[in-house]
Amino acid sequence: MSSKRAKISGVGHYLPDYVLTNAELETMVDTNDEWIRTRTGISERRILKDPDKATSFMATEAAKEALEDAGVKAEEIDAVIVATVTPDYFFPATAALVQKRIGAENAYGYDMSAACSGFVYALTEGAMMIESGRMKKVLVIGADKMSSIVDFTDRTTCILFGDGAGAVVLEETDENGIIDFVQHTDGDEDCSLYQPAGGSMNPATAETVESKMHYLRQDGRVVFKKATEGMADVSLEIMERNNLTSDDVAWLVPHQANLRIIQATARRMELDEEKVMINIDKYGNTTAATIPLCLYDWKDRLKEGDNIILAAFGGGLTWGAIYLKWSKS
Ligand code: COA
Repeated sequence: MSSKRAKISGVGHYLPDYVLTNAELETMVDTNDEWIRTRTGISERRILKDPDKATSFMATEAAKEALEDAGVKAEEIDAVIVATVTPDYFFPATAALVQKRIGAENAYGYDMSAACSGFVYALTEGAMMIESGRMKKVLVIGADKMSSIVDFTDRTTCILFGDGAGAVVLEETDENGIIDFVQHTDGDEDCSLYQPAGGSMNPATAETVESKMHYLRQDGRVVFKKATEGMADVSLEIMERNNLTSDDVAWLVPHQANLRIIQATARRMELDEEKVMINIDKYGNTTAATIPLCLYDWKDRLKEGDNIILAAFGGGLTWGAIYLKWSKS
């Protein structure tokens, strides 16, 4: 085992231009702006309208920007991990398409399926690849075209999700970087958040399409309760393991599923709201992309040595947290 750490040396993003506002959703389903804002914190979300573009397009754009930000050439990348639940295809992997399009000719790549925890899981794997001493530079991407699996006639889910991608370059360092991580899984046999058809359990048929089984389904109240507990639990767990008090934490980067879940997590961490990255109002829940999109939006405010906690909860059920000390120089 080497004594190396991984640090984030570049951040990139992609957001589609089309803005789907709460006002437009009011014309599509029986809902209203006030309900959506007070129950979720969301005002608008982005939608990838172009029928010829899918998750790999957004992931590729985010990856290119992250490489440029890091000053790293695509050929230097050893591995590409794409966290997504909306891959272009079941196979080939979205990561393989990205690898080709950015010209990462020396990299291998694969997709990570861990829903809203996908980015923290993928970042953990990327960090461990570098800590092992076998890899020097890894591209970690969170990208989801949620509009491809959202039923825009179901008011309980269509208000929540948006499309987007975020990417980071991980590089080897001897100093600050990713210090610790905690990940959990608890197989959700009750399917409180899932896509019923399209897999080997319910392959696509005229009936599955007719019954809208290719759209995501969620028991909102169950997921809300578990997410509120899980995200706060894991954030406190990683603080305790690393002897961090709320004063020591510069930033919480929470998965953006619901403003109330984020606020409950911050409260349990005893963290002031100005230390919490929140952009759910603009983008909604972009699943694997929420955390890197926050890092992108805040990157110019992050300072060398800042203690940062990333925390996520999602379908699976999956949840996890990462503690890193910011160092980009
Ligand atoms: N507009 C207006 N009313 C709506 C609505 C909408 N878009 N969606 C649901 N409602 C109604 C419900 O039908 C219900 O009406 P009823 O009381 O007459 O039955 C009422 O609002 C309350 O519904 P409820 O489901 O209890 O609301 P909630 O406060 O739990 O909020 C969610 C719903 C989906 C916003 C919330 O449960 C949530 O955020 N869950 C977690 C989602 C999540 O994080 N998923 C990603 C994985 S991390």
